[in-house]
Amino acid sequence: MTQTSHDRLLIIDFGSQVTQLIARRLRELNVYCEIHPFNRVDDAFLTAFAPRAVIFSGGPASVFTEGAPMPPAGVFDLGVPILGICYGQQVMMHCLGGKVERGHGTAEFGRAYVTPTATTHPILSGWFDTDDGNGGREQVWMSHGDHVSEIAPGFQVLGTSPNAPFAITANPERHFYAVQFHPEVHHTPKGAKLYENFVRLAGFKGDWTMGAYREEAIRKIREQVGDQKVICGLSGGVDSSVAAVLIHEAIGDQLTCVFVDHGLLRLGEAEQVVTMFRDHYNMPLIHADESDLFLGALEGISDPEVKRKTIGRLFIEVFEKHAKSVGGATFLAQGTLYPDVIESVSFSGGPSVTIKSHHNVGGLPEKMGMKLVEPLRELFKDEVRALGRELGLPDAFIGRHPFPGPGLAIRCPGEITREKLDILRRADAVYIDQIRKHGLYDEIWQAFAAILPMRTVGVMGDGRTYDYALALRAVTSVDGMTADYYPFTHDFLGETATRIINEVQGVNRVFYDCTSKPPGTIELE
Ligand code: XMP
Repeated sequence: MTQTSHDRLLIIDFGSQVTQLIARRLRELNVYCEIHPFNRVDDAFLTAFAPRAVIFSGGPASVFTEGAPMPPAGVFDLGVPILGICYGQQVMMHCLGGKVERGHGTAEFGRAYVTPTATTHPILSGWFDTDDGNGGREQVWMSHGDHVSEIAPGFQVLGTSPNAPFAITANPERHFYAVQFHPEVHHTPKGAKLYENFVRLAGFKGDWTMGAYREEAIRKIREQVGDQKVICGLSGGVDSSVAAVLIHEAIGDQLTCVFVDHGLLRLGEAEQVVTMFRDHYNMPLIHADESDLFLGALEGISDPEVKRKTIGRLFIEVFEKHAKSVGGATFLAQGTLYPDVIESVSFSGGPSVTIKSHHNVGGLPEKMGMKLVEPLRELFKDEVRALGRELGLPDAFIGRHPFPGPGLAIRCPGEITREKLDILRRADAVYIDQIRKHGLYDEIWQAFAAILPMRTVGVMGDGRTYDYALALRAVTSVDGMTADYYPFTHDFLGETATRIINEVQGVNRVFYDCTSKPPGTIELE
């Protein structure tokens, strides 16, 4: 739980796939909120959190099953507005004396239309517009098997859909609201308006702005760190850069940034990062050129997980060395974001499957025995970008595509060699240059070249070539969790392949990767 002077909204997570979207919609309204799993929220937590309003998320469970997730009993006695969504509606009705049924033919998945009843309420202000061509009904997104068959005492019905007679309900006296659909998703066009009405009725001031966040974060960093020293691993990515600039603003030269050059960076990257932070921002910065150490240790390794673990271990060694060299730093700064912090609700109780040990590179602190400074823990990626702008970081830097901690190691499937890295770096630079020249960079979440572990035969001039093949990847995504390949034109792809082969010696074939995620992942390893 975070200390903040803002009014707080508590989202109790019952395991919906889209709980984070509820938080996004609220943040867009400048409302501070936190997501906590239902099994961590008890009455003591509620007292300490002191929410101004509560939202129950949806979830995959059924109120009938044994051990079905329930909110703490005390939540209904807090005297604050509550909004229940989907399972959140069902659980609210179940707890307050209504009825939920598993219905034959009453499940609804996907688009549905809600029509108003004769009862109106300000929670629906701006809804059911008779002039918008929908005949006064509103499109919503449903995803439910069970449904409420009897509303709890004190509730009124404000909207119905063919398979959800209680699609929108309210207990005006207690300020409890409950909807069967998902207002947080894009396919409920007026969903944002519903949240806006809810937070207005709950009395939120909407004062969660980036300017306010910056001031608060600076105060908290000063309080936490006192006169101790902090080191910050700077990767050149947006998150660590924004964290470093913010911490530097808070504690000045008590912060030293460590930029580890593991020999797996892109063309010109080390120079760019060092120039920007050391020369422009005037920050104490150690440029640790450790390429021999990393590339030496990676020699002969082709397994992706062993690569990641090797890189993670060496990062720790290098950081430890520099934490000592700055005269005993006790804090380590990290650009951890909110999506990394939210605990996901596991109904099976088992750990989720590890696809890639992504966070090993960031997972330094436990092993190093240092305390953490994580000033971005409450922010989503786009909010970090907004904070970066607020701090005056150049747009070109803020809009940079994400780059993974293990760098080019995971874009070089199989064994890594200096020769391959050199080819990859040059080819990647041509590819990105092409994307920028065509004005596509900002439309793409992430684009990069990967060098494939094979050579193919070609013919150049009158001679035979036997050179490397490259894969080009470009994806669109909102959060990196799911992604689709970017639909370049054939002209663009042809021109790019030609440029790479002409300009980069050692490549004679270029493929474009048309795999979405899932089933693929964004990186090749
Ligand atoms: P995948 O390949 O899992 O990538 O679809 C999703 C996002 O995570 C980045 N990524 C990593 N970042 N360490 C990191 O710091 C890693 O080991 C790692 N692997 C993938 C990837 O670039 C994409 O943005």
